[in-house]
Amino acid sequence: MANFPFFSTHFCLLLITLFFKASNAGNYNVLSFGAKGNERTDSTVPFLKAWASACNSPTPSTIYVPKGRFLIKGIVFKGPCKNQITFRIDGTVVAPSDYRALGNSDSWILFSKVNKVSVVGGTLDGKGASYWACKTSGKNCPVGAPSMTFNWANNIVISGLTSINSRQTHLVINGCNNVVVQNVKAIAPDQSPNTDGIHVQTSKGVTIIGCTLQTGDDCVSIGPGTYNLFMTNLKCGPGHGVSIGSLGKELKEAGVQNITLKNAIFSGSDNGIRIKTWARPSKGFVRNIVFDNLIMNNVENPIVIDQHYCPDNKGCPRQNSGVQISKVTYRNIRGTSATLEAVSFDCSITNPCTDIKLQDIKLLYKNKAATSYCKNVRGSSTGILMPRSCML
Ligand SMILES: *[C@@H]1O[C@H](CO)[C@@H](O)[C@H](O)[C@H]1NC(C)=O
Repeated sequence: MANFPFFSTHFCLLLITLFFKASNAGNYNVLSFGAKGNERTDSTVPFLKAWASACNSPTPSTIYVPKGRFLIKGIVFKGPCKNQITFRIDGTVVAPSDYRALGNSDSWILFSKVNKVSVVGGTLDGKGASYWACKTSGKNCPVGAPSMTFNWANNIVISGLTSINSRQTHLVINGCNNVVVQNVKAIAPDQSPNTDGIHVQTSKGVTIIGCTLQTGDDCVSIGPGTYNLFMTNLKCGPGHGVSIGSLGKELKEAGVQNITLKNAIFSGSDNGIRIKTWARPSKGFVRNIVFDNLIMNNVENPIVIDQHYCPDNKGCPRQNSGVQISKVTYRNIRGTSATLEAVSFDCSITNPCTDIKLQDIKLLYKNKAATSYCKNVRGSSTGILMPRSCML
């Protein structure tokens, strides 16, 4: 028995060491920073404290948001951080319901200059209704905040997140490299203004997989400076479809290159796949685009290129788009159009669309072949074509 106290001291030391190791490994539960999941208590500061701890952690860390409804006002998670951070969310993060509460800020939850951050699970409730009411009433409203924004971030994963009723876009990827968005749901009413699902711009290497996007605006919108975007297994609708654009508003504008959308279902959306440019001078371009294996269910405009975008006919001095659209392939696209004209290529007279490829298209309107419209477009077609190609 003489050994016992000695053993016991060692055992205690071991436990203490393990305890400190575990806390060093960085598991930061927002509750231990004072967050309350009662939807009323403002948990912004506790979330920021949890972020500060994780961001300074010398080892990879996890910020944990348990079940509950956590009220968060405008928040910025700033990098760079010392190590990788996982945000694991079981609960719901809730925005203030009064649209004025975020002021004129253009973000609600913003990650800025972070590297190796994952957001896993959880729900964002953007409480958009009062903001949409302001917008539709024609009043002077604040700019409107997307629910989650990544600015100048690298190596990001957003997985299993559900975003509902965003004031504006659900998820913005801006100035990022290497981002995976998977199994994300973005849901807002059909008539909610400007509630894009996912907006990507000035970013390289973004992958969007297995997402369900039911919104009042574009399911995915792709802005200037997007390179190497791969999208697959998407469900879109209601909403305005997958949109490259609007592009070419500026004279000096970065192009869009190497975009693939493969395996997607569009249901009751205003558009299927659309490329849209302002009827203005611009050095922008769109090239190397592939749309492959898409199903259209009762979609108003399944395939659209519109280079004459000029709302209210204002600010488009020459009414021609300078954006050069080339090498766009439409392959294996089938289903139903809600209007007679299922394919519309309305390209710029100064910069005609070139190298447009159609292969195996079968779009029906009221059980008959739909029609197509061509202006300033050149390309080729193979396989079954309903509607028939009108390209030169
Ligand atoms: C095009 O983008 C894909 C990702 O979707 C990437 O793997 C590929 O390398 C890119 N191609 C070029 C030529 O950059």
